[in-house]
Amino acid sequence: MNILVTGGLGFIGSHTVVELLNNNYDVVVVDNLSNSTIDVIDNIEKITSKKFKFYNIDVCNYDDLKTVFKENKIDSVIHFAGYKAVGESVDNPIMYYENNLYSSIILCKVMNEFNVNSLVFSSSATVYGIPKSLPMKEDFPLSATSPYGTTKLMIENILKDISISNPNFSPVILRYFNPAGAHSSGLIGENPKGIPNNLMPYIMRVATGDLEELSVFGNDYDTHDGTGVRDYIHVVDLAKGHLKAIEKSMNTSGVKVYNLGTGVGYSVLDLVNTFSKVNNVPIPYKIVGRRAGDIASCYADPSKAYNELGWRAELSMEDMCRDSYNFIMKQKEAKN
Ligand code: UD1
Repeated sequence: MNILVTGGLGFIGSHTVVELLNNNYDVVVVDNLSNSTIDVIDNIEKITSKKFKFYNIDVCNYDDLKTVFKENKIDSVIHFAGYKAVGESVDNPIMYYENNLYSSIILCKVMNEFNVNSLVFSSSATVYGIPKSLPMKEDFPLSATSPYGTTKLMIENILKDISISNPNFSPVILRYFNPAGAHSSGLIGENPKGIPNNLMPYIMRVATGDLEELSVFGNDYDTHDGTGVRDYIHVVDLAKGHLKAIEKSMNTSGVKVYNLGTGVGYSVLDLVNTFSKVNNVPIPYKIVGRRAGDIASCYADPSKAYNELGWRAELSMEDMCRDSYNFIMKQKEAKN
């Protein structure tokens, strides 16, 4: 079976390509390298000892995308390509709406023309907005608090509308909680350009000494230690969820929505302390004020994914911390 992965050289995309190749799928990756690097191809091939087809194109380009479908018989698509930085989306909403919406619309248009009906879409728990209760379930009301979140919500709605017009269309929408960790080989992982916004990448840079200390955004939340609680999920667990989602999409029709999280919340200080302990490295931090827009706690009810996909997270917070550190140290060694 031939799977097209858009954004397949990115953080979650690259780990998903590894799992697909390890499970004997044929893979075609489309990526415009806007937030990834070409060496990810070699690293995926090193991990899997398998090759895949790569197109350096933008999913927004209708003619280029059509060429990919002409040259390959695609059975199913996993759509990761898109911008994902919340703060950046607030500063530059037009860029986010243009890129994230247009790429998804072009993809759906080309899939329709080539009669490809199986799609897995990379959504986010951000579509729950500020939840009224916890844990968060798939049927909770949806809202967005940033242009980035709005694009995810709008794409979900577009997929739902297409499903109404085309009963054979079978999109599976995956709402990720907080992806963290890296492949255990240390060959692929997340290393954002510039100063990271997200917690785990920031801690990784403090661990290497590139950044002096972590700012913990608030310790007066209604949580067990006052710091924000999130559902961190190992990127390899997340990647495996996509394989289950493809199976589901191939065997059913209509829209399906699943949370991919562990169901367990960890605070900022839980993460800092675990990282420090597992890797035997100090993570200096200071408590500062709350970050605008943050909520106290956010964690999934992942039972629907378990009951309907047979998927659940298996790796621990210790695994995420160990693998993240292994990856960033390898990156640092390679640079020096
Ligand atoms: C953010 C996005 C979410 C996106 C996710 C990707 C917002 C409101 N949400 O989630 O849409 O899908 O990233 O992973 O931006 N923290 C610190 N110090 C730091 C960084 C973070 O204390 O330097 C704290 C935050 O206050 C929060 C926790 O760490 O309590 C996690 O933050 P982060 O990694 O940015 O993820 P989210 O805000 O949950």
